[in-house]
Amino acid sequence: MVNNTDLVSIIDPFVGEGVQTNSDFLKNMENLQFETSLRLGHFLQVFLEVINFLVYWRTVGFVGIVGFLIYLLFWRPYNRYRDLTELGYDEANTRQGGNNVARMNFINDMRKARKVGVATALYPNGWFVVMESRLLKKTEAKEANYFGKTFVVWRGSSGQAYIADGYCPHIGAHLGVMGLVKGDCIECPFHGWTFEGTGGTCVKIPYADPSSIPKSAKLKLHTSLEMNGFIFIWYHDKGLQPTWTPRRIPEVDNGRWKYRGRSEFRVSVHAQEIAENIADTGHFAKLHETSYLAGINFNNRMLDNIFDQEWKAGWYVSKEADRGHESFMEAAIIHKEGPGITTFLSDLFGKSAFFLMVTPVGPFETRMIKHMYSEPTLLAHPFALAVLYVESLQIDRDCEIWNRKTRLANPKLIKEDRLIKEQRRTILLEKVRT
Ligand code: FES
Ligand SMILES: [Fe+2]
Repeated sequence: MVNNTDLVSIIDPFVGEGVQTNSDFLKNMENLQFETSLRLGHFLQVFLEVINFLVYWRTVGFVGIVGFLIYLLFWRPYNRYRDLTELGYDEANTRQGGNNVARMNFINDMRKARKVGVATALYPNGWFVVMESRLLKKTEAKEANYFGKTFVVWRGSSGQAYIADGYCPHIGAHLGVMGLVKGDCIECPFHGWTFEGTGGTCVKIPYADPSSIPKSAKLKLHTSLEMNGFIFIWYHDKGLQPTWTPRRIPEVDNGRWKYRGRSEFRVSVHAQEIAENIADTGHFAKLHETSYLAGINFNNRMLDNIFDQEWKAGWYVSKEADRGHESFMEAAIIHKEGPGITTFLSDLFGKSAFFLMVTPVGPFETRMIKHMYSEPTLLAHPFALAVLYVESLQIDRDCEIWNRKTRLANPKLIKEDRLIKEQRRTILLEKVRT
């Protein structure tokens, strides 16, 4: 190596101690060339290393990005949530300048100002989803709040799911909050009273003799079933037992069809509004024909030149004996069972099922959950993502309307609206003036 002093003498051979000879000078020049080539070599090495690094990381980056895109397109399930006040309250957003408290007050005023018609029961009868199966593991207990009531839903160690009133008959603790599942029983978190899942009988009070358990200490269980990835409750305002059961899709239950994703909407509307949407064929052209690219702005027809869609649909009630609760839409195989269950079956890019489940939460609040399953074909996942995305954009538009509309007791239905009348009369069991 050459130190600083040496460098000075190399650059100026006459500086230093004594006078240098020619051979010293030549030697110094050799050193200079050697040093320069050393430096060039080092520079080249660094340069090559940088290139190597870039090539390596570019490859890694490229592979990573491609891998991530493949994961997004072919693997990751879709998930989208829309809350109660996200749609239909544009006025509140613009007037209140982004102040959340003022915005909520404004929204509350608008909601209170809505007068509700009385043509219909508070909650329709039928099978309704209370939970997604995949969200309830074995020996887990959770609360669920629907029909203005609170429930506990638990899955026993046998895998069976149960639904019961949420409050413990002892002193009223909520069984879905810190309740423990023991076998197929639910144990109250407060004093440990334990109720079995099949009949609701109290089988244990930790601080009392079994013979002294009162017969009346019973948990109210609700008729339930589990299929197609959901746990259902049977609701009937007069407490009558089910007269029909939903159709099971075996490929979903046995896992042959893959789960592709979900979307969830909380809507400030009577559940029957959503149920009758499918029979309201007149609204498709107005609300859903505008290009997807326009988003919720369905009055903007400018984008229709780029991409729009045309809706032609019919709707009819099942002619099968004992299946009067079912109706079908002709545009695709859309299959509706009571007010709570709608299934879309498709053959595009492999067989698939799209479920749209509607459950009343309160008198004018409804929860909508959509799931999609399809055969494991190559393009099934990207196709499902597109369906889930576009469908939820379309539902955004309905929510803009639903969140602000009322339920008229005597709507002016004309003869072209006859399918709505038929839906209200046959599926929703309303009294409709003809
Ligand atoms: S409140 Fe449930 S055991 Fe006491
Ligand atoms: Fe719609």
